[in-house]
Amino acid sequence: METRMIPIDERTLDADAIGRVCTILKGGGIVALPTETVYGLAADALNAEAVLKIFAAKGRPADNPLIVHIAEISMLEKLAMEIPPAAYRLAGRFWPGPLTMVLKKNSCIPDATSAGLETVGIRMPSHPVIRAVIEQSGLPLAAPSANRSGSPSTTSAQHCIDDLSGRVDAIVLSGDCTVGVESTVLSLAGERPRLLRPGGVTREELEEVLGPVELDEAVLSRADPHSRVSAPGMKYRHYAPKARVQLLQGNTGQYQDYVNAHAGPGVAALCFHGEEKGLTVLAAALGTPENPAQMAQGLFAALRDFDGKGVQTVYAHCPPPKGVGLAVYNRLIRAAAFDLVKL
Ligand code: TXA
Ligand code: MG
Repeated sequence: METRMIPIDERTLDADAIGRVCTILKGGGIVALPTETVYGLAADALNAEAVLKIFAAKGRPADNPLIVHIAEISMLEKLAMEIPPAAYRLAGRFWPGPLTMVLKKNSCIPDATSAGLETVGIRMPSHPVIRAVIEQSGLPLAAPSANRSGSPSTTSAQHCIDDLSGRVDAIVLSGDCTVGVESTVLSLAGERPRLLRPGGVTREELEEVLGPVELDEAVLSRADPHSRVSAPGMKYRHYAPKARVQLLQGNTGQYQDYVNAHAGPGVAALCFHGEEKGLTVLAAALGTPENPAQMAQGLFAALRDFDGKGVQTVYAHCPPPKGVGLAVYNRLIRAAAFDLVKL
């Protein structure tokens, strides 16, 4: 399939280009476009045939539901039912932004979109490009991360081209994503609010609005591949580069000693700012334990960059699993297939 490249500057939002994207989506096509978290691969959420093309392009297992993106609160009421007051409180505080709420779905949502579940994940993104496309097309957009299934999510247009060129109708060429990890997924469909996937909106921030929020067991540990876990996406090997990743927990000195003792060709380090000075291997330095947001922003690009350089083993320094650090920890532990060493 020929993939059209459509440049859109998020500051000027070229109306012609937005119009071309809307035409493709209304015709049942699929388009990779930027959001503030990661690039998404979008289709009309209410068109099952279009949604199935997303699964094919990504190689995504059919039992993994898609998030539906909206631009105004009135769309929420068409897509979900029995919306609890807490959803409106959360929307008031965190939308538009990196929060997905899982709610009971309305019958207009096809099974292809919700992977046969009775619920649907809904998010109002803040990125001007996807917002303009939703507003102009009037379509709710189903959009998983715009990567081949299992690979790290894409946070730049070039990474979308690397993964999806020839497999999708169009790729929107815009700047890099600012959050860098996918949205927080919170279920409000059960008795108590439950965090299914940590992301840019932290558990601590959610608890300011809701009181205690349960952490799904799949956030920190390996889910049984045969079980029906709450967020089906969490059970797959995920966010994984080609290189083997090992996650190391310890202070700077312990981390540097371990990495240097394992130095050799094809070895790289994903470390905090400043730590690279004491390392004898190729290093990408991102954020600090106190500022994991910076690590989140560059995480997936760094893993893809290591692959491009032929790296075979990545030693990643583990951030404390608090705040945005919980999201980074959750992605890294999956990229590492749960290979964690306590130093
Ligand atoms: O930031 C994001 O959320 C990005 C951008 C494009 O918006 N999207 C994204 O989608 O990360 P995806 O499909 O890569 O991840 C969606 C996650 C999966 O783990 C999926 O299992 C879970 O959300 N999910 C979606 N709908 C759900 C539902 N109804 N119940 C439970 N989990 C759900
Ligand atoms: Mg994904």
